[in-house]
Amino acid sequence: MAEYDETVVSEHDGIQELDNQLPRWWVWLFVFSIIFAVLYFSWYHVLGLGRGQEKRYHDMVAQAEAAQAARQSEMMANLDLGTPSRLDEVLAEGKDIYLANCASCHHSTGRGLIGPNLTDAYWIHGPNFEDTMHVIAKGVLEKGMQAWENSLSLRQRHAVASYIYSIRGSEPPDPRAPEGELVENSDDPNYNL
Ligand code: HEC
Repeated sequence: MAEYDETVVSEHDGIQELDNQLPRWWVWLFVFSIIFAVLYFSWYHVLGLGRGQEKRYHDMVAQAEAAQAARQSEMMANLDLGTPSRLDEVLAEGKDIYLANCASCHHSTGRGLIGPNLTDAYWIHGPNFEDTMHVIAKGVLEKGMQAWENSLSLRQRHAVASYIYSIRGSEPPDPRAPEGELVENSDDPNYNL
């Protein structure tokens, strides 16, 4: 079979149509690309064996999430219970504990109700984190603030103390009148680390 067949198939108005064979290399390329497309399609989309973009993306996200979870749990394990925490998990747990146990006296916003406002800068028992931890553990029985050391674990008391620490200065509406002493700039120096 000649590669270039000059046989004239038809002729119209002086324009000739020749019966040329396609070059071999071109035909093979064409056949190969079809086979390649079939293999590629089945590999990635039918059998799902290839790691396509989407799969690689999901793998990377899963990896990053695992790394973050590991970091979080390491931070949780190394939590310094002597300083207020800013970890989302700790604050979320603290908020739950607060709403369940403390809001009845200190109001859900912390503005104070039967108990004092926890968001202002006035403190009866001291502004430091350890003061807060101490009041929560021991309570002020004669004033109606119960001791929580038997019903909340140290970690739970740390979580709720961190939470009320986080709402300091939040200025909720209708605050209870200030009680105790005004203490400015009482934030724990470690808090913003
Ligand atoms: C039954 C009511 C009541 C409940 C419930 C209660 N408190 Fe209190 N709380 C008080 C009262 C009253 C005081 C003020 C004590 C005083 O005047 O010496 C107080 C004081 C405090 C103080 C010290 C405030 C200051 O100005 O020094 C903190 C901190 C505190 N409460 C946190 C909590 C937390 C956290 C919880 C929940 C785990 C809680 N309270 C639950 C009534 C309550």
